[in-house]
Amino acid sequence: MSAITARRVTRSRRLSASGARRLTRTGFVSAGERSVLTRTPRSVISSDAKPGRTSSSTSRRGHGHACMRSLRTCCRFVGTMDESTYPHGPLSGKTVALCVTGSIAAYKAVELARLVVKAGGKVLPVMTASATRFVGPLTLAGITGESVATDMWDPTVAGEVHVRLAERADLVAIVPATADVLARLAQGRADDLVTALALCARGPVLAAPAMHPRMWEHPATQRNVAELAAQHRVSLVGPVAGEVASGDVGLGRMAEPEAVYAAIVTALSKRDLAGLRIVVTAGPTLEDIDPVRFLGNRSTGKMGFAIAERAAARGADVTLVAGPVTLPTPHGVRRTDVRGAVSMRQVLWQAMGLDLSRADALVMAAAVADHRPAEPSASKIKKSDERITIDLVKNPDLLAEVGAARAGKRPVLVGFAVETEGGEGLVAYAKRKLTQKKVDLVVANEASESFGREDNRATLVAASDVRPLPTMTKLSLADMVLDRVRELLQTK
Ligand code: CTP
Repeated sequence: MSAITARRVTRSRRLSASGARRLTRTGFVSAGERSVLTRTPRSVISSDAKPGRTSSSTSRRGHGHACMRSLRTCCRFVGTMDESTYPHGPLSGKTVALCVTGSIAAYKAVELARLVVKAGGKVLPVMTASATRFVGPLTLAGITGESVATDMWDPTVAGEVHVRLAERADLVAIVPATADVLARLAQGRADDLVTALALCARGPVLAAPAMHPRMWEHPATQRNVAELAAQHRVSLVGPVAGEVASGDVGLGRMAEPEAVYAAIVTALSKRDLAGLRIVVTAGPTLEDIDPVRFLGNRSTGKMGFAIAERAAARGADVTLVAGPVTLPTPHGVRRTDVRGAVSMRQVLWQAMGLDLSRADALVMAAAVADHRPAEPSASKIKKSDERITIDLVKNPDLLAEVGAARAGKRPVLVGFAVETEGGEGLVAYAKRKLTQKKVDLVVANEASESFGREDNRATLVAASDVRPLPTMTKLSLADMVLDRVRELLQTK
C-alpha cells in the first residue's frame, strides 16, 4: 500500500498547457476537465492552464545559515527590518505571574509555564506553601529561569514582594485555583502572596479552578464565583467536566493547560481584528485513487492553523477549512474538516457565501492538489501489470475562482506560493499568481523553508510592494500576514 505524493507526480512530468491530463508513470496525455461545483457562479469557472512546476529537490539548510541569509536579504530589500524588530511569539515581551495554589492539578501549571515560555513570554512563578507540597519549586524555577516567590516576607527582596511582582506582570494567572483561593479572592483578602498579588495586579487576572465537583457545586463556592463575576476583576477558565483526582466524574476538573494558555494569549493580544470574519484554509487535500490509496502532498497545516489561531486571538470570527491533518483546533475557531479539493471547494463557498458577503478576508493557506484521479476505484486496485496508468483531471483552482467572482473590494484575498525556488524567481512566481488569481497578497516561501517546520521564511508580495521577512515562527508570520490583511482592509 502506498501513498503517491503529488510531489512525486510533478517531479515525473511537466504539465502541458492543455488543461486536464492523464498521468502515467511515464507520461501525460490530454484528457477533458470536469466541473464539479453545481452552484458555481458562471464567472467562477476557470480553466487556466499553468506552466509546469520545476521540482528539483532542495536540501534543508541549517537554521543559522537561514537566519544569516534572511538578515542579508532583508537588509538588501528593505533596510529596516532586523531580527529584533519582529515578535518571536504571541507572548513576546509579555510577563505572566503564574501563581500555583495547593491542588493535585498543580502539575498542570508546569506545562502551562512551558507553553508561555515557548510563546516568547516571561513567567514569574509564585507558589503558596501548600502548592510546594504538590510540585517542587525547582521544577518551575528550571522551566521559567526565574526564582520562585513563595513568601510575602522575603527579606532578600527589596520593597514589597507582591507590589514588585504586580509591577512586572502584564497578567496574573492563578493555576490551579482552589476553592479556598476563590473564596479569598472574592472577599478581597490579601493574606498570602497569591491573593495580595491578585489584589495589586495592574492587568488581567485569570484563575483556573480545580476541585472536587461537590466543592464546586457547593453554594458557598457558587456565591464566590458569582461575586468574582460581578467584580469583573478575575476571569475564570474552566473548570471542565471530567474525572477528578479521586476518580469521581463531574464539573471541577481543571481546564487543560492549552486552554488556559489560549485564554492568556487572548487576554494579552490586541483585539484589532474584532468584528472581522476571516476564512482560512489549511493543510493538504488528499485525492483518492482507491479506498486505501491517495495522491497527497507534504503540507502539515501548521501555517494555516497558526493564522486561524492568531486571528481568533486578535478578535476575528474565524472559520477554518482543514484538509486531513492531525492538529488540534485552535481556541475559539470554527472548523470544518474536508478531504479532497472538491469538498474543500464546497465548504469554502458555503463559508464565504455565493456572493462572498460572509467574509471580510480569505487566507488560502491550503496546499490544494492540482489534480485528482478521474475515476477513483471503488475497490482496492490489485497489483497486476508492471505499469499502471492513473487518469488525472485538473482540480478547480479554488482561489482563482474566488478571485474571479469578487466584484467589489472585499473580501481581501491572500494566497500562498510554495516554490522550490528562492530569491527573485520566487517573487516572480508570486507576482504571477497575484495577477492570475486576482488576489491582494501572496505569501511566497520556499518549500524547504516551510513544509513541516515550526518556523518559516516568507516574502509578502502585494501589487504595491514586496516585503521580504526574516525566518520566524509560524505564529509570528501569521501575525505579520494578518497585519498586512488589516492594512489592505483599511485601504479598501
Ligand atoms: N490553490 C487553490 N486551488 C488549487 C491550487 C492552488 O486555491 N487547485 C491556491 C493555494 O491555496 C495557494 C495558491 O493557490 O494559496 C497557490 O498555490 P500553488 O500550489 O503554489 O500554485 P498553483 O496555482 O497550484 O500553481 P503551481 O502549482 O503551478 O505553482
